[in-house]
Amino acid sequence: MSGAIIGVESTAHTFSFGVVSKDGTPHKSYSALYRPQEGGIHPREAADHHSHLASELINSLLENEKLQPSDIGAIAFSQGPGLGPCLRVGASVSRALSQKWNVPLIGVNHCVAHIEIGRNQTGCHDPVLLYVSGGNTQVIARAGDRYRVLGETLDIGIGNMLDKFARAQGLAFPGGPKIEKLAKEWHIQNPDADIEMISLPYNVQGMDLNFSGLLNAALQRVVEGHDLGAVCWSLQEHAFAACIEVAERALAHTGKSELLLGGGVACNDRIREMTRIMCEQRNCAGIWPEKQFCIDNGTMIAELGRRMLETFETTEFEDSEINPSLRTDHTIVTWN
Ligand code: ATP
Ligand code: FE2
Repeated sequence: MSGAIIGVESTAHTFSFGVVSKDGTPHKSYSALYRPQEGGIHPREAADHHSHLASELINSLLENEKLQPSDIGAIAFSQGPGLGPCLRVGASVSRALSQKWNVPLIGVNHCVAHIEIGRNQTGCHDPVLLYVSGGNTQVIARAGDRYRVLGETLDIGIGNMLDKFARAQGLAFPGGPKIEKLAKEWHIQNPDADIEMISLPYNVQGMDLNFSGLLNAALQRVVEGHDLGAVCWSLQEHAFAACIEVAERALAHTGKSELLLGGGVACNDRIREMTRIMCEQRNCAGIWPEKQFCIDNGTMIAELGRRMLETFETTEFEDSEINPSLRTDHTIVTWN
């Protein structure tokens, strides 16, 4: 696999190493997930977790993918956005590997990497991206040399909201998949359920969203004695419908005809189903990568690095500091 690009992801809970070959074939990622003992993420503890596992993960990648140092053409890493202490571990490991193997270093925008792995996986060309993860909820589309944010959450990310709700019910991180399971099981028993049965706020403001009010109301419904499965179902219905509404408006405004899902919440079968239904009605394509490439993974970082390397976009050591508040639209898109 000569000229392979290695990607290092460390923006928050996930520490991951992945690889893509020079022609853009993605391989699986070798990842570890930091799970807080209690409460939300503690950035320094997460960073310690990542540092302890760095050599084990990189060795697994090299051994299992049968990579020799001479096969490696570049090393890409998440430069931002994310939590400073976590990003710093990935950046330091990447600088060290770039020096050890004498290959270029490429600092990449994590949000843009979610788009590029989706394009790689689905073959779509010019999509609207509905990016739904723990920390981010954005509707994005390319205009000129940037991926522009057309709408986004004004408070917390949708995944964070799901994780917080789950945590309050004693369900460990990550909460999204557990809520999905409870909602699915309840809905099988209650196929005729009406959304009005467990009323929750629906917060869309133009192209923007917010989730705190929805979270608080859902917590309240549980306290009032509603069935947890029912609340999980209604919570998903409200949160996903709000995202799909904004995504649909973005398709209408931009005239684009592909809606791509990305980010950890895009693993959810119900948001996928809602996407499919809306896209069928609009005669658009609703598409998403496989689950391993929706959640944070090193392979997506490698894929964006590969595209940047093709246009000679590498990062000098002195420019390789992390940027926790990097925005999707800060990155100039030089690649196809
Ligand atoms: P980013 O830095 O892009 O914000 P992240 O750090 O949140 O990413 P991801 O792996 O993209 O990491 O997303 C993790 C989130 O996805 C968590 O909030 C988790 O609960 C949620 N999630 C994962 N699977 C599902 C699912 N099946 N249904 C709903 N949410 C899910
Ligand atoms: Fe992510």
